[in-house]
Amino acid sequence: MTGDADGTGIDSTVPHSARIWNYWLGGKDNYAIDRLAGDQTIAVLPEIVDIARASRGFLARVVRYLAADAGIRQFLDVGTGLPTANNTHEVAQRVAPESRVVYVDNDPLVLTHARALLIGSPEGATDYIDADARDVDKILAGAAATLDFTRPVAITMLGILPFIGDNDEARGIVRRLVAAVPAGSYLAITHSTSEVSGERVIEAVRQWNEVAPTPYHLRSPEQIAAFFEGLELIEPGLVPCPRWRPDPDSADSVRDMDEYCGLGRK
Ligand SMILES: C[S@@+](CC[C@H](N)C(=O)[O-])C[C@H]1O[C@@H](n2cnc3c(N)ncnc32)[C@H](O)[C@@H]1O
Repeated sequence: MTGDADGTGIDSTVPHSARIWNYWLGGKDNYAIDRLAGDQTIAVLPEIVDIARASRGFLARVVRYLAADAGIRQFLDVGTGLPTANNTHEVAQRVAPESRVVYVDNDPLVLTHARALLIGSPEGATDYIDADARDVDKILAGAAATLDFTRPVAITMLGILPFIGDNDEARGIVRRLVAAVPAGSYLAITHSTSEVSGERVIEAVRQWNEVAPTPYHLRSPEQIAAFFEGLELIEPGLVPCPRWRPDPDSADSVRDMDEYCGLGRK
């Protein structure tokens, strides 16, 4: 028996990554089973809460950079997560109200909350595609209704690639998405490593993989850098999230952590 009593595909008896992530971010869209799994990780790796927040901090800074400094007006956000503060379209449309954003996720709970992502500025547009990242054809066909693929697009894959463990498969997905956008487009990635906390991260992931239905995979900075092959890495390159263009007036400490990020330009 599963907890999917209403047939929505949302099972409240099995922890789910998007809801656990929401819990670490201080959100309310999670169940007891998610909090239990989330607390298990916190017990081994207390900094996971900072990691989740720092990675959202990167999202806000990189989208603002893309909209304000790089002039990007189109975004393809693959692995959206549950709506929270500073969703991609909010950050982009704050800079440029005409920004167009397409969200992609395969989580049924994210789908039920997607309406919150579709309320953007009247000048811009947002859309949501319920798809697995592996289904690149479906993503590109769906996104073409909102995005003009003859003009630059920023692809953001924040926190999603660790869920695609096979290196060749993950690189294949990234390569096909990047191949679909023209020169002047961008790719932003966040990805977990074990560079900083070593065994504790590895243990937290091992415990996670015992309960979570989708296994999580760490990668080395070299493996993460390989996703940017053929792209020009924007300064400061591939770094722990707090070190990527920190806001000078932010109280957040600039330090190493096992969540790396980078931005590449095609
Ligand atoms: C850690 S959350 C990150 C959310 C958001 N991008 C952020 O940085 O805060 C990862 C998201 O990727 C989604 N995801 C995981 N595997 C996926 C797949 N194969 N296809 C589509 N989405 C996936 C999960 O449902 C979840 O919403």
